[in-house]
Amino acid sequence: MTTPPLIELAGVAKRYREGDAERTVLDGVDLRIAPGEAVAVVGPSGSGKSTLLNLIGAMEPPDAGRLRVAGEELSGLGETGRTHFRRRRLGFIFQQLNLVPTLTVLENLLLPLELNRRLDTAGRRYAAELLERVGLAQRAGSWPEHLSGGERQRVAVARALVHGPQLLLADEPTGSLDGETARGVLELFDELRRERAMAALLATHSSEVAARADRIVELRSGALREVSAACS
Ligand SMILES: Nc1ncnc2c1ncn2[C@@H]1O[C@H](COP(=O)(O)OP(=O)(O)OP(=O)(O)O)[C@@H](O)[C@H]1O
Ligand SMILES: [Mg+2]
Repeated sequence: MTTPPLIELAGVAKRYREGDAERTVLDGVDLRIAPGEAVAVVGPSGSGKSTLLNLIGAMEPPDAGRLRVAGEELSGLGETGRTHFRRRRLGFIFQQLNLVPTLTVLENLLLPLELNRRLDTAGRRYAAELLERVGLAQRAGSWPEHLSGGERQRVAVARALVHGPQLLLADEPTGSLDGETARGVLELFDELRRERAMAALLATHSSEVAARADRIVELRSGALREVSAACS
């Protein structure tokens, strides 16, 4: 018996209107991702990688097509349903990071636990462990604005993982990291995928990040195509 896919997109389209002009960003995208699988999305700047992640993360609705994620038909969810879906199932590393500026590093990390009512001793211990894993144990009490770009990115990485999501959506997760730090973050993703079958969809311009995924798909002119089975 084959496992049902964690993500299933069929004929997904997204258009944006700007004044009189309408721009089709995604034009009939099909994609299936299995539980625990890592898929890299590549494609030129402006090809729609962030848009695709935002649709799968129920941040915005598609104009056409079906999106099924973790057994939920996203178009069938209202505002509250989508909020619950994001909170429980997803870890999202945004391209703009979206750390809360009025919360310390540790408080940013505890936020997903608090929203899921899981801010207990085990949760706090795991948050501290993740901070350590991304090399920021000493910065727990710092404000995001006092961190470097790469340090902020690592806080966003830890925050996306702290509540044990089934699916990680990561938009350029290593964009401001040096090679060695980036490899550390990618190894962390791999371990969590092995430990708890977390699937990952990573938008990236980095051939190194893409090469570590199980599969690479490319967005171009609104369409998604399989590039290759990545070498492991
Ligand atoms: N809210 C919006 N309103 C209008 N146009 C938008 C909006 N969001 C995205 N777009 C357009 O959609 C296209 C795809 O943008 P997107 O951010 O998905 O690209 P990307 O592949 O992630 O690029 P990058 O590699 O630079 O991050 C761009 O042309 C962008 O201008
Ligand atoms: Mg983008």
